[in-house]
Amino acid sequence: MEIKVFNSAAEASMFVADQILELVKQRPSANLGVATGRTMDAIYHKLVQRSQQENLKYNDVKCFAVDEYIGLAVDDPNSYESYLNLHLWNQLDFNKKNLFVPAVNQEDIDKAASEYEDQIKSCGGIDLQLLGVGLNGHIGLNEPGSSLDSRTRVVALTSSTRRSNKVLFRKGGVPLTAVTMGIGTILDSKYCLMVATGETKAEIIQKIVNGDINSKVPATAIKQHSNAILVLDKDSAKLI
Ligand code: GLP
Repeated sequence: MEIKVFNSAAEASMFVADQILELVKQRPSANLGVATGRTMDAIYHKLVQRSQQENLKYNDVKCFAVDEYIGLAVDDPNSYESYLNLHLWNQLDFNKKNLFVPAVNQEDIDKAASEYEDQIKSCGGIDLQLLGVGLNGHIGLNEPGSSLDSRTRVVALTSSTRRSNKVLFRKGGVPLTAVTMGIGTILDSKYCLMVATGETKAEIIQKIVNGDINSKVPATAIKQHSNAILVLDKDSAKLI
């Protein structure tokens, strides 16, 4: 795993946005695996700005969300699907039929989760997987204890994750469960960018960088990826 430390969150976000832009320019039918959360806000803002300036089209891009909450209404503004449409796809030339989100409203969610794996595979796999890091080291919603070869499945959220994500909910509580790509699914991606910015992430980044690969800190799994970069700003990198 390569580590890149930028002077500011803005510079780190620009680097990540550039990586996505370059990929889509080279491969207009790229498959993107995408995350949500505060860290992604700045990245997506820059990506949209640059894409609009350069008139870059995403019509042939396929987008796979890393996770989705269970129990929210389809059009709930707190769903990750709504997040992705709001921050990215409503603002770009993108074909909404190419947005794939784990199906959480089907009767058989386990079957839908395994179909999500098939959809990723049948598209040729994820070219670029973008990830944030939870304060407890989760990636997607693979909470501590998740097996390093896990696949897309239903998971229970920890109280720390629900607390941390609560501020993003204008009304209603954070669901108790979600469907997330597994760590194994994430490790299958061809290129992976894991991003953490701000001082609140310094402690977990220290554990990821200095600790062994272990399921107690799911993000350590990225060290097993053959083509991954951990993208940090000075604040998140201050303990390494
Ligand atoms: C959420 C998301 C993750 C994200 C993490 C970090 O739980 N499901 O995909 O990486 O939180 O979020 P933030 O960037 O807001 O700290």
